[in-house]
Amino acid sequence: MCGIVGYVGYQDATDILLNGLAKLDYRGYDSAGIALVHNNQIKIDKYKGKLEVLAGHLEGENRPGKTGIGHTRWATHGKPSDANAHPHPSEDMSIAVVHNGIVENYKSLKNELIENGVTFASETDTEVISHLVRSYFDGNNILEAVSKTVKRLKGAYALCICAANEPGKIVAVKKDNPLIIGIGENENFVASDVPAIIEHTRQIYTLSQGTIALVTADSVELFDEDLNPITAQVEQVTWSAEAATKAGYEHFMLKEIYEQPDALQNTFGSILDGEAIEFEDFPLDKELLSGISRIYMAACGTAYYAASYGKQIIEKIARIPVEIDVASEFRYKNPIISEDTLFVAVSQSGETADTLESLRLATTSGAKVLSITNVIGSAIDRETRYAIHTNAGPEIAVASTKAFTTQVICLYLLAIELARLSGKLTPEEYKGYRKAAFDAPEYAKSAITQNDAIKEIALKIAEAQSVFFIGRGVDFCCAQEGSLKLKELSYIHAEAYQSGELKHGPIALLQDGSPVIAVCTQSTELFDKTLNNIKEVKARGAYVFAIAKKHMESEIIDEVDDLLLIDDGPDELSLIPAAIALQLLAYHTAVALERDVDKPRNLAKSVTVE
Ligand code: M6R
Repeated sequence: MCGIVGYVGYQDATDILLNGLAKLDYRGYDSAGIALVHNNQIKIDKYKGKLEVLAGHLEGENRPGKTGIGHTRWATHGKPSDANAHPHPSEDMSIAVVHNGIVENYKSLKNELIENGVTFASETDTEVISHLVRSYFDGNNILEAVSKTVKRLKGAYALCICAANEPGKIVAVKKDNPLIIGIGENENFVASDVPAIIEHTRQIYTLSQGTIALVTADSVELFDEDLNPITAQVEQVTWSAEAATKAGYEHFMLKEIYEQPDALQNTFGSILDGEAIEFEDFPLDKELLSGISRIYMAACGTAYYAASYGKQIIEKIARIPVEIDVASEFRYKNPIISEDTLFVAVSQSGETADTLESLRLATTSGAKVLSITNVIGSAIDRETRYAIHTNAGPEIAVASTKAFTTQVICLYLLAIELARLSGKLTPEEYKGYRKAAFDAPEYAKSAITQNDAIKEIALKIAEAQSVFFIGRGVDFCCAQEGSLKLKELSYIHAEAYQSGELKHGPIALLQDGSPVIAVCTQSTELFDKTLNNIKEVKARGAYVFAIAKKHMESEIIDEVDDLLLIDDGPDELSLIPAAIALQLLAYHTAVALERDVDKPRNLAKSVTVE
């Protein structure tokens, strides 16, 4: 999730842009840059690395300019590098663009521009915007040129654009990515988020979907996509600067839980292209597939549970055998890996030492190595030949949330693409599975909207000494992930069991009131089986909280103490809303126990040691 800052006013813009970008560093970034407009020229400075690198290059330099745009980039298309850092200029340096989001149709636009003789200087999707604006720009109509450009773009984006010939103007565009305008006195600001501008003004416009803003030092004009003027309410920011970094949420974890529908949407941005599933950095085709007879996945913690889901879904839909291992075990077990193995390393951070060493081992054993990571340019991303990026945006809370659900959707898309290529699906079945992926963000919401009800249940769980999670099939993966979330956040002992395993030992631990959380979302025979297991634990006095689907209500309601119903979506993806419900449960339990939710004791966000 990139950060955008824009300034137009009476002061030199450089420091305002750098300070604003520094306030957005909680969003995560790997490169930074600014563009200043002065004497009808645009001057751009942009570098890979932290803001200090950019500031170091600017030190002692005279960079006049009272109009400017700045950006911190979180790599999506193209690795972190000076060239891929924003702002991106047009070839003649008459236009500069900063962008947050993903241009889904950038490939076709890029081809069109190349055919028209444009030379690209970066690997980014953003650069098509600079060249398109330039192609519509006749020297004094930046607003119109931007309006024509955005009509050509598909995807989610927030943009801030300036033109050499029109100093004193910034054009800002918002579509599915946040953007605000800060209103000052003889100066105005644009930013992705309030912290960037809060020291200058608390008066803001939060741009609504599809708004184009023309910002000068003493005016802010708002338009719809066809440049019809629109109005908006000026809001007064009442948050503290610290609260503003969390967009008003009490914790980063809660913010990241709520971001999941958007994160899932962003994941599609670089994978689903029109009718096809195309992994940008993984050219999966029949030829590549013909050299793969089995898949091996290794990961740690939450990423391992995503891999467990991946195993089930790939074996179910594509019928390719998949083995999985916790990465710290894989490394030392002399695993059987050969050239016909596709090895998949799953990792949010891309820096986890055990996962990194596992993929090194797989690489030296001759496997085809693919990574699924959230951080482009991370060690794991760099060291794998093939890559799928989850594009969930930075995850700051130690507990993994949106990384998990976006890993799940990537593995699901991988499964259906493998199945299509190996002829396991009819075109109709493939279409159905693919559509289900598109519906996943809505499916996710069916848990998020029940936050209040989950909070009530969390108050009961907060009193427990020990909690059992049960499920079958992919519901068991969910139970495992729910159990990990609860223990790492609340410090309550929790264990996950396959529902049918309980009576082989663990059921001895149950007594009156022992909490059992049952995940039963599979509309197959697994539902009846888990229902029987619920009856068994109820008979031993357990308190049962179940997560099921709406259509199951009549069969399950009398068997449990508390019930949460998610929408009737496809079984293959019910893990997404069910896991989100368990994230919220763990979150509220931890809050009730006054735990350090974003930084639980003894844990680090990325475990870079063995
Ligand atoms: O960055 P990674 O996905 O490789 O991290 C793996 C685990 O360390 C991580 O998922 C950990 O289990 C989280 N704290 C879970 O919330």
